[in-house]
Amino acid sequence: MDKSAKIYIAGHKGMVGSAIVRQLQERGYTNLVLKTSTELDLRVQAQVQSFFEAEKPEYVFLAAAKVGGIEANNTYRAEFLYDNLMIQTNVIHQSYIHGVQKLLFLASSCIYPKFAPQPIKETSLLTGTLEETNEPYAIAKIAGVKMCENYNRQYGCNFISVMPTNLYGPNDNYDLESAHVLPALLRKFHEAKLKGDASVGAWGTGEPKREFLHVDDLAKACLHLMNTYEGNVSVNIGTGKDISIKELALLIKEIVGFTGEINWKTAKPDGTPRKLLDVSLIHSLGWEHKIELEEGIRRVYRETFLN
Ligand SMILES: NC(=O)c1ccc[n+]([C@@H]2O[C@H](COP(=O)([O-])OP(=O)(O)OC[C@H]3O[C@@H](n4cnc5c(N)ncnc54)[C@H](OP(=O)(O)O)[C@@H]3O)[C@@H](O)[C@H]2O)c1
Repeated sequence: MDKSAKIYIAGHKGMVGSAIVRQLQERGYTNLVLKTSTELDLRVQAQVQSFFEAEKPEYVFLAAAKVGGIEANNTYRAEFLYDNLMIQTNVIHQSYIHGVQKLLFLASSCIYPKFAPQPIKETSLLTGTLEETNEPYAIAKIAGVKMCENYNRQYGCNFISVMPTNLYGPNDNYDLESAHVLPALLRKFHEAKLKGDASVGAWGTGEPKREFLHVDDLAKACLHLMNTYEGNVSVNIGTGKDISIKELALLIKEIVGFTGEINWKTAKPDGTPRKLLDVSLIHSLGWEHKIELEEGIRRVYRETFLN
């Protein structure tokens, strides 16, 4: 991408979109097109069509989506399917119609089969049954990956997609109704410490293992791939290291300085037992994560709760 290229970041207020904007600005890209969902509802085809006609972006980072943790995915099943299908279909199709030079679509490691062999290789996509709680979200995202691939194959587009692991960082969602596990635990421990509570409730058994990546590392990976990678394989982005939810809770408890107990609500669903990405492809393409988990959580805790 040329420094003066016109770049549209869909979802720039979100955790991923805002991290991509920070990276682009740090590297001297100045011609950024940014619209909130109030200004441009990406579910509405006519709005997206007019926007592309008027702006004609050269590059697109598609980081707008309906996103949430297990509870939100499981409760708002129709919305996760409808909103994500509409947003990505409109943006990808209009990018093709208006000759976007390159598009990067944010998929997710949640869309691999529930029992994919670990660490999960890119080739595991569509090889097994999905996790029931987030099936609607996964089906929508798989459609997005396949749109990129097949627009490349039929129309000769240059649309790539990526499979990030669980992310955390600035502008994360801390609403306990819809948050992912890491921000939810940060908030719960922080508030319990302030109130002097004796215990904090945490979902599930704590046994599942998960991988976490700081969103600034993800944004660097996205820029790197936008500048260097072409292909139909949706590239895994992660650290290649995982941790049990129990270990994560203890780490966050220590970072926050909460001294009470953790009360595991074992009747709540655990989700996929393990989710660790095979990151050999992205390593071979010249990117590796820089921010280790403990350092990243300390940074986010300081920036978000202690300021
Ligand atoms: N968070 C993770 O752990 C994670 C992991 C893997 C992959 N991803 C992927 O990364 C992408 C971004 O996730 P995120 O965590 O940054 O989500 P987020 O913080 O919830 O941000 C989502 C963004 O999408 C925009 N959006 C939602 N509905 C829209 C609509 N109808 N029209 C226009 N914009 C709309 C929102 O815009 P407004 O703020 O203007 O409403 C918001 O800025 C998603 O595709 C997600 O699947 C995330």
